[in-house]
Amino acid sequence: MHASSAVSQPAERESATSTGNVPVFPSPANVGVLISGRGSNLYALIEAVQSGHLDVRIAVVISNRADAAGIDLARAAGIETLIIDHRSFASRDDFDRAVASALRERHVHLVCLAGFMRLIGAPFLEAFPNAILNIHPSLLPSFPGVGAQAQALAYGVKVTGVTVHLVTGELDGGPIVLQAAVPVRDDDTVESLSARILLEEHRTYPEAVKIVLANRWRLDGRRFERV
Ligand code: GRF
Repeated sequence: MHASSAVSQPAERESATSTGNVPVFPSPANVGVLISGRGSNLYALIEAVQSGHLDVRIAVVISNRADAAGIDLARAAGIETLIIDHRSFASRDDFDRAVASALRERHVHLVCLAGFMRLIGAPFLEAFPNAILNIHPSLLPSFPGVGAQAQALAYGVKVTGVTVHLVTGELDGGPIVLQAAVPVRDDDTVESLSARILLEEHRTYPEAVKIVLANRWRLDGRRFERV
C-alpha cells in the first residue's frame, strides 16, 4: 500500500534519464528494495539475480522496521541494509525524504516495494517518477489496501491474483505492469489462498522488474503499454 501527500523539491536522479515522464534505465540498473517484514518477495528478487534471470544490482534493502526478517535475508546475500524507522521522523514527508536520499546516495534507479507497509508520499514519488514498483496480492483494481486475500474470500470471487504496478499517489492505483490470476477454491482459507498467491508473486515480481528495465514501454494515461 502507499499514497501521496505534500510537495517537495524535485530530486536529482543519478543516471536514469527520462523520455517525457518515462524513465530510461541503464543496464544493469541499480535497484533498491523496501520492506517491512518477511521479505519473501525480496528473496525472489535476490534469487532471480543470483540465477542470472534478472540482470540488476540490488544496491540496498531498506526496512522501516528493525525486526523485519527480510533484513537477514539481504545481509546473508551480502546486500547493504538500512533501517530507517519512520517513528524517528517528525512527519511522513521527512521520512520520505530520508528514504529517497538514501536511495539516491546509492545511485538507485528503480525502487521495488516488497511488503513495505508505509504510505509513499510526494517527496518520494517526485524523486523517482514512474520508477517505483509495488506488488499487491489481488487483481487490482479489486481489493486494494490491506487484507486483499481476505477481501477476495469475503467477496466470493472465483479468481484473484497478483498485480505489479507503478506507484503513483493513488493507493494501489498506478499503471499496471503485470498481473497473474490465481483461482479461489471453495475450501480456501486466508492462509491457503495467500500461500498460492505468494507463489505467483515470486514468479511475477522479477518478471515485471525485467519488463520495466527493458525500457520498451510507454504510458498512455494510466495504461502501461509495451512497445
Ligand atoms: C506480499 O503479499 C505482497 O504482495 C504485499 O505484502 C506481502 C509481502 O510479503 N504487498 P513478503 O514480505 O514479500 O514475504
